[in-house]
Amino acid sequence: MVRYLRIDSSHPLYPQTLELRERILLAPVGYDIAAFESAYPAARDFLHFIAAIDHPQGERVVGVVCLIPNHPEKGVGKLMQMAVDPQRQREGIGRRLVIELERSAFADLGLKTLFCHAQETAVNFYLRLGWEVEGEAFDEAGIPHRKMVISAPEMGAEAATDAGGGELGLDQKAPYGV
Ligand SMILES: CC(C)(COP(=O)(O)OP(=O)(O)OC[C@H]1O[C@@H](n2cnc3c(N)ncnc32)[C@H](O)[C@@H]1OP(=O)(O)O)[C@@H](O)C(=O)NCCC(=O)NCCS
Repeated sequence: MVRYLRIDSSHPLYPQTLELRERILLAPVGYDIAAFESAYPAARDFLHFIAAIDHPQGERVVGVVCLIPNHPEKGVGKLMQMAVDPQRQREGIGRRLVIELERSAFADLGLKTLFCHAQETAVNFYLRLGWEVEGEAFDEAGIPHRKMVISAPEMGAEAATDAGGGELGLDQKAPYGV
């Protein structure tokens, strides 16, 4: 069973979460967490959404995605550091993490727009989730990227009331179309 949760730096799974980010996203471009946080100070305020599975030696983190709320301005959020363990990719874990991040960003935090800098190879993943490409390709850490965006869903009064409940709404349906 995969468990989805939002954690902060005091959570026991936080160190594993940093290891996963480092292994999948940072090491390939020559960074470790310390170097990343010093180059990108906002990283210390990331909200972490993780996927964890049972394992005989204790829970294992197999997916992560981060959100910086109200960045670079109020009402806007940046999705960063999206990674799923290669052994567990293409099982829907990445999709579910983005849905949980969107739910939190739009329903709980009241953000209006999300954006990310998607590696070209991941653009289709976000397109499948309803995100759209904005502008031209650009280079980041030597890798071609595209800016991608998604807006908060228009919610009627009923949907807005339903949207807030539950610990991350774990097994609830997202109130917006993804
Ligand atoms: C990109 C990544 C996060 C996707 O996670 P995942 O758990 O494998 O994705 P899912 O299984 O939830 O896939 C959701 C959908 O996106 C599609 N998809 C997943 N990865 C894709 C990719 N790299 N390219 C195109 N489509 C992709 C899936 O086929 C699926 O499509 P469906 O709607 O038809 O079912 C994962 O492959 C990964 O960590 N890659 C390495 C790091 C990376 O590139 N991170 C993104 C940086 S911007």
